[in-house]
Amino acid sequence: MKVGFTKVSMPATGTLVVPVVAGRKLLATGTAVDKRMDGGLKRALRAGHFTGAAGQAVEVVAPSGLRASRVIAVGLGKPADITALTLEAAGGSIVGRLLRSGDSSVSFAVDPIKGCKLNAAMIAARLANGAVLGSYTFDAYRTKLKPEQKPTLKSVNIMVANQAAARKAYGPLAKVSEGVFFTRDLVTEPANVIYPKTLAREARKLAKLGVKVEVLGRARMEQLGMGALLGVAQGSAREPQLVVMRYDGGKRGQAPLAFVGKGVTFDTGGISIKPAQGMEDMKWDMGGSAVVIGLMKALAGRKAKCNVVGVVGLVENMPSGTAQRPGDVVTSMSGQTIEVINTDAEGRLVLADALWYTQKRFKPKLMIDLATLTGAMIVALGQEQAGVFASDDKLAEKLFYSGKNVGELVWRLPMSGEYDKLINSDIADMKNIGGRGAGSITAAQFLQRFTNGVPWAHLDIAGVTWSAKAKPTVPKGGTGFGVRLLDDFVAENHEK
Ligand code: BES
Ligand code: MN
Ligand code: ZN
Repeated sequence: MKVGFTKVSMPATGTLVVPVVAGRKLLATGTAVDKRMDGGLKRALRAGHFTGAAGQAVEVVAPSGLRASRVIAVGLGKPADITALTLEAAGGSIVGRLLRSGDSSVSFAVDPIKGCKLNAAMIAARLANGAVLGSYTFDAYRTKLKPEQKPTLKSVNIMVANQAAARKAYGPLAKVSEGVFFTRDLVTEPANVIYPKTLAREARKLAKLGVKVEVLGRARMEQLGMGALLGVAQGSAREPQLVVMRYDGGKRGQAPLAFVGKGVTFDTGGISIKPAQGMEDMKWDMGGSAVVIGLMKALAGRKAKCNVVGVVGLVENMPSGTAQRPGDVVTSMSGQTIEVINTDAEGRLVLADALWYTQKRFKPKLMIDLATLTGAMIVALGQEQAGVFASDDKLAEKLFYSGKNVGELVWRLPMSGEYDKLINSDIADMKNIGGRGAGSITAAQFLQRFTNGVPWAHLDIAGVTWSAKAKPTVPKGGTGFGVRLLDDFVAENHEK
């Protein structure tokens, strides 16, 4: 989607969008439009039960007195309650309804809103950002799209008095959305296209942005003693990869923040094989790694003032004659041994070595991992929020607030020595599953044993990586959940 900022005028083509606040109050441009329409806009709002509440919209097609193909009034609610998220939702929902409308451009009229915490430039930037986030499509494999199914909308024009200020506010947001789109693409691609080597190849593309990318193959991981990760990979014909991405935008020598992702490019369960029903969903079991890669793209793209490393463990979990068996004991890079009771609890085995490697090599200030780790997480929180587990209360709190800022909510679950005991093994240092209860927590306890005391948080994104229902800024499919959250976390806490 092309985004432009121009001065406020009456567009000669395409759709014109006029924001309206609670109480059905038109802003400056809305009033001018209504006048040209001979009061037709206000009549349409009344007829459409439109009060100006956030989320409402009324559309007038072929409005008389105007050259635009349609006018849409979009509600923003009470001025004092308008946030960045309100505006993004408005931008996203408008683009969602126009994407295949036949129109090729949409113009948003941005006027200052009395009593709103955001100035016109900020309003403009957030409308643009929402419009872009809501415009995401993935049609790479649809060769038979009918004309009416093809996206027609090509450009979003934000009309605002101070274009320079709006462009400046929008700049970093655009880079973050590029990261989100990269993540969504990677998650959506099927597992015959995205597997460890091809996912590593995608990560290598970040070199263009100044990210240093290193890829470790099986031989190097064997030297390092990564028996937990390699055990998962051994049933697959695809070679595992560990990708290390470094972006240094902060002070020289300053300890980096580390982000670690689970990248199981397909999870059959291995010998503890999953049922056929729904197994296709496991193409997105690399969602954590895709978030880390998209986040690196976002941070490098907007030139964040911080040192960051991203590490992703990429494997395919397959059953075969070479696959690991339930009951096998593997030795992780940390030296700790693991009894693999269930080969479907593979994500934690991959992360065990990725986390240990990350803290050992980079001595990071903190580590945050992301993983589609447990089905139990979906039982607990559904598709609405991700679970967060942390060794550090402050870190958990910061993630909670960043989640609120960007609309990617996370909820903390407990950890304790009692839960930790549940993964003790009779024949090794630990086993890879606990009992029947607290499945997401015992998984987190397992990960913590590989953090070596570094301040750490774990985001279990099993329920939020993929969405069956569309939201204004998050179309159906791969969500990119986590990129905006962690970008905000970095910006709010580590660049000041
Ligand atoms: N990738 C799955 C978790 C998952 C399930 C993510 C459904 C998204 C949707 C993970 O590797 C897994 O299989 N976990 C098992 C753990 C169990 C064997 C202890 C699970 O949740 O069933
Ligand atoms: Mn699994
Ligand atoms: Zn998995």
